Amino acid sequence: MANLLWCNTAIFLLASLFLADNAIVIEALKHSPNRIKNQPYRTSYHFQPPKNWMNDPNGPMIYNGVYHLFYQWYPNGAVMKVNEIVWGHATSKDLINWTPHSPAIKPSRPSDINGCWSGSVTILPSGKPVILYTGNDVNNRQVQNLAKPKNLSDPYLRHWTKSPVNPLVTPNAVNHINSTAFRDPTTAWLGRNGRWRMITGSQEGRRGLALLYTSRDFVSWKQSAKPLHYNDGSGMWECPDFFPVAKTTSDGVDTSSFGVSVKHVLKVSLSDTSHDYYTIGTILWGWVNESSPEKDNIKKGWAGLQAIPRKVWLDKSGKRLMQWPVKEIERLRTTQVKWENKVLEGGGSLLDVHGVTAAQADVDVLFKVSGLEKADVIEPGWTDPQLICSQKNASSVNSGLGPFGLMVLASKNLEEYTSVYLRIFKASQKSMDHVVVMCSDQSRSSLDKGNDKTTYGAFLDISPNQSISLRTLIDNSIVESFGGKGKTCITSRVYPKMAIGENTHLFAFNNGSQNVDVLSLSAWSMKSSL
Ligand SMILES: *[C@@H]1O[C@H](CO)[C@@H](O)[C@H](O)[C@H]1NC(C)=O
Ligand SMILES: *[C@@H]1O[C@H](CO)[C@@H](O)[C@H](O)[C@H]1NC(C)=O
Ligand SMILES: *[C@@H]1O[C@H](CO)[C@@H](O)[C@H](O)[C@H]1NC(C)=O
Ligand SMILES: *[C@@H]1O[C@H](CO)[C@@H](O)[C@H](O)[C@H]1NC(C)=O
Ligand SMILES: *[C@@H]1O[C@H](CO)[C@@H](O)[C@H](O)[C@H]1NC(C)=O
Ligand SMILES: *[C@@H]1O[C@H](CO)[C@@H](O)[C@H](O)[C@H]1NC(C)=O
Repeated sequence: MANLLWCNTAIFLLASLFLADNAIVIEALKHSPNRIKNQPYRTSYHFQPPKNWMNDPNGPMIYNGVYHLFYQWYPNGAVMKVNEIVWGHATSKDLINWTPHSPAIKPSRPSDINGCWSGSVTILPSGKPVILYTGNDVNNRQVQNLAKPKNLSDPYLRHWTKSPVNPLVTPNAVNHINSTAFRDPTTAWLGRNGRWRMITGSQEGRRGLALLYTSRDFVSWKQSAKPLHYNDGSGMWECPDFFPVAKTTSDGVDTSSFGVSVKHVLKVSLSDTSHDYYTIGTILWGWVNESSPEKDNIKKGWAGLQAIPRKVWLDKSGKRLMQWPVKEIERLRTTQVKWENKVLEGGGSLLDVHGVTAAQADVDVLFKVSGLEKADVIEPGWTDPQLICSQKNASSVNSGLGPFGLMVLASKNLEEYTSVYLRIFKASQKSMDHVVVMCSDQSRSSLDKGNDKTTYGAFLDISPNQSISLRTLIDNSIVESFGGKGKTCITSRVYPKMAIGENTHLFAFNNGSQNVDVLSLSAWSMKSSL
């Protein structure tokens, strides 16, 4: 998932999602005095801390009807110092409006004095939550630590007590674990034998590892003889996660579920490339970094945001993970613009979607293509969708089926725009099969040359003779797109100079030679969250 670090999957039980009404009143901390406002790239409905650097989401949970999000936070500036990272903390009743709290865990002990790094929350059978986290210790070794809530009656669980027996697990000469490559404990789950299990990421040479640990009491952990999984050549595995997902429904399941009705998903982040490989659960967050130079982040006073939380489930084939923004986000929708059965004519058409706040919008489109036989044949070497999308002419007028899609965060005369689009190719001259490529192109997103302008691309595993859906969430400097009802997601960060606030436009376009039907297009203006 380009430009997106899936660090630490958040797992909630959907069943408990709507318990929020038993009236816990969130205090009026919302208008924190140091909060940054009125900046063009500050997002309006994505989660960001009041200011400064943020990376991985950690240990998201729902406890007594309140959602908690912890996150890796450097409280003293927009450029992180790893040795001073704390667990930032915020709570919400609806996953959309968030109240910041003081950090849950800060470096204070020999076992974490050089940083409180990523980890997880596990809800014990008693209903009590506990945190497992990596401490960077006094010798700069990575060790695993435990913390518990100080006062379970505090609705926000603002204070956490570190276990006196920390560190629970250390790298040493006996276990041969690399002390600078041993981090990010997962949510633990109960095995069939009644013992807790959890994994941590590690590395041995170029081999990436998910080390498995078991425990009876959550305090004393024993390393299993074999890792849960490994891969040669991938380098360090960070932020692993391992959890079950229902095989036949899209409902969430308990993290300790096992048996024929679930499949398990292992997800890791590759430290080398910052790219992630697979995940599941019911709600999931991903850290989105800036694509602007460090000096711009210092000027803004913040860096990093969280993607809109996503519901995650298995598609019918059982092979692909589907991702979709949580329903709660739809509560921010206001004015709606709706089109039905409009034709985007071939040869270069551009339609202005009037009437929405284009800098802050949710757009959901259903396209229908015909003339599949007119699609260009995919070139034999084109196996990397990112390279296809990155070609200079990928979105210009051409002979085939597509490119068609949206131009978002666009200035009126298209000096700036970010295009999110589809192109359809024939798999080969003879075959009736087609290949659908989805692209998010930020190469012309800003007149400012200093930003990262990588174009992202992915294959969309759908049959193009049916309708093709594309949903895009636009929030000032972020564009989150979902193709094929959630089969493929691409996130881009962009920093336009002209397409800001009311000077922002939204267009639908077709640069292919064949007509494309817009079966429906809904675009909603989005309110800001708190
Ligand atoms: C943001 O993360 C992506 C990897 O997902 C990386 O390619 C890019 O360089 C990062 N941007 C900055 C400014 O660090
Ligand atoms: C625990 O939290 C509750 C609710 O906020 C509060 O009434 C109580 O005084 C707290 N207990 C302690 C020991 O701080
Ligand atoms: C230990 O991990 C570091 C990365 O943190 C890596 O550079 C080093 O090569 C690793 N050492 C061994 C022996 O694998
Ligand atoms: C871009 O143009 C080159 C040269 O004409 C052509 O080979 C290539 O297929 C084109 N790429 C796309 C994505 O249309
Ligand atoms: C569509 O093609 C025209 C002409 O080549 C080009 O100016 C425009 O940028 C293209 N649209 C997109 C989204 O790339
Ligand atoms: C769509 O295409 C697939 C193969 O590409 C074919 O199996 C299916 O019958 C087609 N469906 C329709 C409605 O044409």
